[in-house]
Parts: sequence; C-alpha cells; structure tokens
Amino acid sequence: MTSPVQIAPASGKLGVLLVGLGAVSTTTIAGVLAIRRGLARPIGSLTQMGTIRLGKRTENRAPKINEFVPLASLNDIVFGGWDIFEEDCYAAAKTAGVLEPVQLDQVRPELEAIKPMPAVFDQRYVKRLDGPNVKKGKNKRDLAEQVIADIRAFKAKHGCDRMVMIWCGSTEVYMKETAVHATIESFEKGLEQSDDAIPSSMVYAYAALREGLPFANAAPNLTADIPAMLQLAAKNKSPIAGNDMKTGQTLIKTIIAPGLKARLLGVRGWYSTNILGNRDGEVLDDPESFKTKEESKKSALDYIFQPHLYPELYEDLTHVVRINYYPPRGDNKEGWDNIDLIGWLGYPMQLKINFLCRDSILAAPIVLDSVMFLDLAKRAGMSGIQEWLSFYFKSPMHAPEVYPEHDLFIQLMKLKNTLRYLQGEDLITHLGREYYD
Ligand SMILES: NC(=O)c1ccc[n+]([C@@H]2O[C@H](COP(=O)([O-])OP(=O)(O)OC[C@H]3O[C@@H](n4cnc5c(N)ncnc54)[C@H](O)[C@@H]3O)[C@@H](O)[C@H]2O)c1
Repeated sequence: MTSPVQIAPASGKLGVLLVGLGAVSTTTIAGVLAIRRGLARPIGSLTQMGTIRLGKRTENRAPKINEFVPLASLNDIVFGGWDIFEEDCYAAAKTAGVLEPVQLDQVRPELEAIKPMPAVFDQRYVKRLDGPNVKKGKNKRDLAEQVIADIRAFKAKHGCDRMVMIWCGSTEVYMKETAVHATIESFEKGLEQSDDAIPSSMVYAYAALREGLPFANAAPNLTADIPAMLQLAAKNKSPIAGNDMKTGQTLIKTIIAPGLKARLLGVRGWYSTNILGNRDGEVLDDPESFKTKEESKKSALDYIFQPHLYPELYEDLTHVVRINYYPPRGDNKEGWDNIDLIGWLGYPMQLKINFLCRDSILAAPIVLDSVMFLDLAKRAGMSGIQEWLSFYFKSPMHAPEVYPEHDLFIQLMKLKNTLRYLQGEDLITHLGREYYD
C-alpha cells in the first residue's frame, strides 16, 4: 500500500457542456435524466455499474467503482451545450431518433429546458452541414472569448462548482498539425488572424482549456491533440482525453485482435464495412470527413499486431474500412468484418462478424464515464493527457515517446490500476505466485 492521492470532494454541482447536441449527446443526457429517476439502468457504464478487485483474490474485496473513488453523483450533473440548430434537447433527441418517444416523454420538461447556445461553426470544416444558430465574431479569437463567456455564464446561472466539456460535434475534415499548432503563442496569433488551420473544434477546446476545464474529444478531429493545447492544459491544470469514442466495429476489433495475436494466429486481411443512416453517417459521406474517421479506425490493428515484431504473421495485412450512408437504418448501424486468418503451417481460415449495433447506445456510457473520470482527475490534480482513459477511445491520446495502447484488456487494467493508485491500494499485476508458494 502507498499513501492515497489527495482528491478534493465531489460536492456541489457539476456542469457538463457538450459541443453538439446530436444523437450521442441527447442519448447521454436523456439517459442520465431517466437513470437518476430510476426509470432505466446505466448499462455499459463502468462508473455506474463496474466493480474493482482490491488486494489478494482471497480477500474477496470488490467494491463498486463509484463507492471506491469519489465520483460526482448523477443527481449533481447539470447539462448544457452548443449546436448550430436551434431546437431544444427534446426536439433534437426526437430528430436523432435513437430513444423511443415514450422514453423521451418521461423526461420531456428537463430536456426541453436545455436550449443550445449559438455555435462556433464554419462549413469549410464540415461540408455536409449548415444551420442558423451560429455565432458571429470579428475573428476566431473573438469567437473563443464568446465561448469563454458562455462557460462562465452557465457556471454562474446554474451555480456549478466544477465544469467539464466534451466535443460531441460532427467529424471535421482531415487536418494535419501545422506551425500554428506548435505553441500557445502561435495558436493565439492564429486565432487573431483566423488561420485556416484552426477548425471550430479547436476554438471550443481552447476556450475550455483557458478556463481550466477538463476536455475530451469524442470525435476523430485533431482538436486538442496538438502541442499548443497540451501546453495550455499543463498551464491551467486541465485533464484531457480522446480521440474518437471506441464503440461499434472498432470496439469489437480491439476485443478480437488481441485474442488472435495472443495465440499467434496470423492475419492476412481484415475487411470492415458499415452501413449507417444517422446524421453522423451523412457527414461521413463527405470524403474529407471520412478521411479523418478512416485514419482513426485504421491505426488500431497496426498497434495491436505489432508487425515489426511479428513480420511473418502480420506484415502483409490488408486492412480496408468502409462506411456507407444508408438512411433506412438510422442510428442502428450494421457492421460486417471478414478476417482472413492463417494458422499452423500456413493453413487459411476465415472469421466473419456481423454486428447489428446501436451507435449512440454504445456511445452514451462512454460520454458519461469520460465526464466522471475527467472530473475525478481534475480533483486529484492530474492534468494533461489521461492515458488511463484510452479504454474509451479509438485513437487514444498518448505521450510522443510511446505508442498508443489499443488492446482493450490492457487499457482496462491501466484504468483500474490508476484508480487503485489514487486510493493507495496495491496495483494488481496478476502474477499470483503467492497462492502457490
Ligand atoms: N455514435 C458513435 O458510436 C460514435 C463513435 C465514435 C465517434 N462518434 C463521433 O461523435 C460525434 C457525434 O456523433 P453523433 O452521432 O451524435 O452525430 P450527430 O450528427 O447526430 O451530432 C453532431 C451534432 O454536432 C453539431 N455540430 C457540428 N458542428 C458543430 C459545431 N461546430 N458547434 C456545435 N455543434 C456542432 C451538429 O449540428 C449535430 O447536431 C461525431 O463526430 C461522431 O463521428 C460517434
């Protein structure tokens, strides 16, 4: 045992600001409202349902995570957000079409009270989208100051002690890091000059980090994953996490691939295709937004299989990812994977996976857990990249000198060991010699 880390109590209200009140956000908000009234269960959420083993297996200690570490209570959360559409959260949830109308009606007044603040938006970064609820400003710096004013006004109006911001907006066009992103100074100069290399998502992230808020990116955009933001996070003690929530097909990929690798089964090809018909699917139908998503989805296998260490098994792997916009399915995505395997003596085998999932149903618990753990991290004095939250993301943020960890089971171990470390409990190595000596 080591001494526990000092963690400030989770007392008072927690303001949760979501950028983009689309399918994921409204499913998260309506879900939390229903759960806290006892109308539904938080299935899929580690912070609400998960347990954590402590000490030796013979001790039989396995408290619930939310009884082990001081997390905010669901009752203390106040939601708000921005969107380019003016409809309130109830109407937006109806448009998204994820949850049944009768379920939405149970929490209708609370949803209707959440009205989107005008957004920072420029269609250059999301080609398939346009809407009226958009801020005007003389440059991007001015827009960032307006977002900061929104954060402060929300905090004061709702009497929040702490705040968290999560980007749940649409996937922006593919961008690479440039000189503007290198330092806080160059970034702020870029804001003044409305530099093209600063998309809307970065304006929000900058505002959050300027205010010292924890920030997570649920989408694959570059957003907070640039040196200027990391410097700002360190300066203002903001924990950050991202990128791109690990939900449907990639979740399954990072469950299956570590298993194949563990048994040293070779993989020659992995063909993944999806159909989805929600607004996210429509945005991803634009090749520039799809490129951002594709890059995020494709990297996981490379890191899990480590072809540089196992060239005979994985060097020639062909990995193809496709997403097709298909309106009849709405948010209920269908994904197919065909995996061409090789076994003993090089004999070929095939594995087929057909996942009929619901995108936002898988995403909502991730948004909730990210909020809870980022708020915990902030109160525990942890700032910058929170690698222990890699568990939730397709392209986990990581220090420049290490590769990202994609294996879901290593990610979970890292997350739980971080919680044990925070509370001064022994880390679990799974060595287990002591039971046999
Ligand atoms: N659902 C999943 O399983 C999943 C998984 C990983 C990542 N994501 C990503 O999460 C994001 C949200 O997904 P969704 O299904 O809710 O999409 P959605 O299209 O339903 O919602 C996105 C919302 O963001 C708004 N928006 C876009 N740009 C904005 C801006 N600059 N400011 C404010 N609002 C803005 C849009 O108007 C829309 O209402 C997408 O980028 C998606 O790729 C979703």
